[in-house]
Formats: sequence, C-alpha cells, structure tokens
Amino acid sequence: MMESHVDTGQLLRYSTSTVGLITSVGPRGTNVMTAEWTYMVARRPPHFAVGCQTTNYSTRLILDRGEFGLTLCDASMASLAEFEGSFSGADVDKLPSAALELRDPVVTGCPTVIGGPLSAECRVVNVVDLPDYALVVGEAVWLTTDEVANKDPLVKHGGMYQLGEEIRSMLISASATACPDGSVRVCAVAQGVDPESETDWTVALRSNAHVLHTTTGGDCLDVVIPPPARHLPGDHLVIARSDCQPAHVALPRLAGEPPDRRGGESHA
Ligand SMILES: Cc1cc2nc3c(=O)[nH]c(=O)nc-3n(C[C@H](O)[C@H](O)[C@H](O)COP(=O)(O)O)c2cc1C
Repeated sequence: MMESHVDTGQLLRYSTSTVGLITSVGPRGTNVMTAEWTYMVARRPPHFAVGCQTTNYSTRLILDRGEFGLTLCDASMASLAEFEGSFSGADVDKLPSAALELRDPVVTGCPTVIGGPLSAECRVVNVVDLPDYALVVGEAVWLTTDEVANKDPLVKHGGMYQLGEEIRSMLISASATACPDGSVRVCAVAQGVDPESETDWTVALRSNAHVLHTTTGGDCLDVVIPPPARHLPGDHLVIARSDCQPAHVALPRLAGEPPDRRGGESHA
C-alpha cells in the first residue's frame, strides 16, 4: 500500500536502469524515443520489456506493427537520449539529429540506433496494459553487442550517470539450515572475490573454534555437514576465508534437539 507522504512524481529518483532508445516504423518512416524503462527480462531467447506511455507516438507505432528496435545507450549518448525523449515524432522529425545514426534492419522492418552496449530487433510477444502505460514485451530476433561501449553504460537514476567502481565488499553472507536427517546445510557467498580463486573456506564452531569443514576455491559455498557433536546453547557457526570478513550464523535447531537449546538469530 502506498505511504501517504510519498510523492509519486519523484519515484523515478529511486529506480536505476540503462537508458534505451526505442525505434519504431510508421507511415512517415522511422521514429525514435527514449525509454529508461528498457529491461532484459528473459535470456534464452532474449526478451526485452519496455514501459511505454500510451500517449507516446512510438507506442502506437510499436503496437500497430508488432515490432520495435532497441539500443541500450552508453554515456556518450546522453545528449541524444535527452533529445529523443523531449519531443514527439507525432509533431517533429527527430531523425535529423546530428548524433543519431541508424543501422539498417536485419530481420524485421525496424532499424536500430548505432552505438551503445546492445542493440536488438524485437517482435512483440505480449503487452501488459497498465495505468497510462503499456508494458511491451518483445522477443529479440536479432541482436548485437559492443564490449567497449559496455564499459560505460548510460545510467538513469533521476539524472543521468555513469557507473562507478565495481563493488568488492569482501564480505561473506551465509545461512545454516537444519536438514531432516540431522545434518546442517551451510550456504554462503563471498561477494567481490575472484570466482576462480583457490582460497579455502572454513566452517567452524564459534564456541570452541573446532573446524567442521574445509573447501577450497570458488566464490560460493554450499555444503552439508554432520551435526556438530558438542556445541553450546546459542552456539554459532563461523564461515570464513582469509580474504573476507567472516559471517557468524546461528546453529539451527537440529533434529531431536529441544527448542530451548536453540541459538539466537543469525547475524553477519
Ligand atoms: C531520459 C528519458 C527517459 C525516458 N523514459 C521513458 C520511458 O521509459 N517510457 C516512456 O514511455 N517515456 C519515456 N520518456 C519520455 C519519452 O521519450 C517522450 O515522451 C518522447 O517524447 C516520446 O516520443 P514519441 O512521441 O516520438 O514516441 C523518457 C524521456 C527521457 C528524456
């Protein structure tokens, strides 16, 4: 339910996405509009969803023809994106913009904009009617990517931004789950580590530092360990590796164990 103090006009400042340029074709030729709500929503085959305001000229063209082109922008395309999103193709011809270069269609009848990390030609497979918007889902029938442009995507978050540094928190997040046979499944990820690294993971009891399990390598741990033989009420598991801050998780209540021997809530 909506909180009464939320200004819905400001909600776009709270979402983040790569800006897209959406191409469509009508009786007067190709039109381009900017859509920050352009998302990949399935992988095999790739599908993309675009949130299109129903009053946009592009929306009508896309729905009439059942196809559209999309290009995810890089930072060099910020001015072009601002322009294509500020005027309607119903009133003006937006194509003569100096910064806009179109790629001839390959599979559909829709050109795509040259530049950016990814361009695709899509056939509409579904349309979800929403208040003031149509969420148009298209299957990509042709697609190209550019590794260089992909290093510098155009990010919308209220204003337009470039990406910052990659997050490498070097923190472990983990859980311990009691299995019906009395064993304990320990799941953990080490955010920011090299997945190819050969660093050891250890799972130990906090009360006596007894190591219950060791695994070498990977950025993810998923093991089932026997129930610890001797542990104290409220005991925790310490999941650690030398390159990260460890995680402490409460031992789950083991099969046959009375409720009062259970440890506290898990915490990192
Ligand atoms: C940065 C930016 C992002 C935008 N994102 C969207 C969007 O996700 N969906 C949408 O319907 N309109 C979006 N718009 C507005 C349309 O691009 C704008 O209404 C445009 O004039 C529509 O063009 P058309 O009438 O030629 O289709 C955005 C505009 C800008 C500047």
